[in-house]
Amino acid sequence: MKCFYYFKDKSRSNNKQLSAPELKEQKKPFQFSVDEPERVIKSSGSSASARGIPELYEEKAHNLRVFSFAELGRATNDFSRLLKIGEGGFGSVYKGSIKPVEGNGDPVLVAIKRLTKDALQGHKQWLAEVQFLGVVEHPHLVKLIGYCASDGERGIQRLLVYEYMPNKSLESHLFDKAYDPLPWKTRLEIALGSAQGLAYLHEELEVQVIYRDFKSSNVLLDERFKPKLSDFGLAREGPVAGDTHVSTSVMGTYGYAAPDYVETGHLTVKSDVWSYGVVLYEILSGRRSVERNRPKMEQKLLEWVKQYPPDSKKFCLIMDPLLKGQYSISGARKVAKLADNCLRRNAKDRPTMSQVVERLKQIIQSSDEGNPAEKSIEVHENDPVEHEEKLNQSASSELWRKRMEHLAKLGEHVESASRRRFMILQKTNMTF
Ligand SMILES: Nc1ncnc2c1ncn2[C@@H]1O[C@H](COP(=O)(O)OP(=O)(O)OP(=O)(O)O)[C@@H](O)[C@H]1O
Ligand SMILES: [Mg+2]
Repeated sequence: MKCFYYFKDKSRSNNKQLSAPELKEQKKPFQFSVDEPERVIKSSGSSASARGIPELYEEKAHNLRVFSFAELGRATNDFSRLLKIGEGGFGSVYKGSIKPVEGNGDPVLVAIKRLTKDALQGHKQWLAEVQFLGVVEHPHLVKLIGYCASDGERGIQRLLVYEYMPNKSLESHLFDKAYDPLPWKTRLEIALGSAQGLAYLHEELEVQVIYRDFKSSNVLLDERFKPKLSDFGLAREGPVAGDTHVSTSVMGTYGYAAPDYVETGHLTVKSDVWSYGVVLYEILSGRRSVERNRPKMEQKLLEWVKQYPPDSKKFCLIMDPLLKGQYSISGARKVAKLADNCLRRNAKDRPTMSQVVERLKQIIQSSDEGNPAEKSIEVHENDPVEHEEKLNQSASSELWRKRMEHLAKLGEHVESASRRRFMILQKTNMTF
């Protein structure tokens, strides 16, 4: 899903190979401000920060590698279509292989994101991404290895080079039938890791960072399905001391952005908390935040799930059928309640991300401590609601089985197509 608004950037630069993005003195093309001048509303009780991202970036910029465009061309067989692994609002993403820093040893697998030629507005996002990812460092944030900025014969080129994440995104595994559905435990671990990434941005850095584009396609998965947040193009510094929020142009992705932010342009960390709540419901239901091809009442996930509150008998009807009933109902109810808290209309009533992390840890721990035999479907004796759910579940599990058989048949074609793609990739000259 694409972002619903990108700001325009008219800045152009001269024909030259650019090295480290400058932050302070040089206003164009590398001006730091990634939005229009801010209007800040005064209030009390918000975070103070002695240094901002530009200062912190200056300190850490040397950790990023600066690539030439030719180098990244070689890394991707001249941006071969066969090595294209994704496409978003910024441009195309390619799998590539680069030499290690010292030049010795095995080539390093990377993902290279290339700004589409005419997406000039993407320049500011490219710059924000370099600067924010140049500063942050956390096991649940994707690592930026380096970048390329070159203005030459082949036009303006802006690229980003990331560590390669082999298991696609949370979005792929939740919604794309070509990928294996994620088991319940993995979903909880992904929810927890993503929450830890956001909590780090909000609460653990010298400067508060608002991510602003939390969604399942920006949660990438490593070889062990550990989640890492990617895409810092829309990230912003939080309000300075004495302010409650920053005022910005409204940017983000339709279906994930907090209503208070969309209505007022007032951005706080609680806008991220809302988006996180949306993704929690995607994880539970296996449905996208917005699906235009569903009946009208089901198109907007948050409106649809409202009919099935966490404490109601009908709650399990929102659960992803691809889980085939293999989840803890009481755990799922707790996750849905947590999501509802994140989705409070009043931003102040939403929990902080560190509170979300703590709650998820408790939920995971209580499901780990539960009797393994009860893990798939927990039923508390004398609990008529849960008893009825169990009956519903066993009746529907037969339906699930049939549906899965049917899907497996349908999937044979998809699988063979993706196998084909894999074989083609192996035939290229790339040595990974
Ligand atoms: N570091 C990476 N490693 C492996 N694959 C990646 C990496 N970064 C991105 N991708 C792949 O490229 C896809 C597109 O990513 P991209 O961020 O450009 O678009 P998006 O998140 O789908 O949309 P948007 O532009 O709105 O963020 C991702 O879903 C993922 O499959
Ligand atoms: Mg993305």
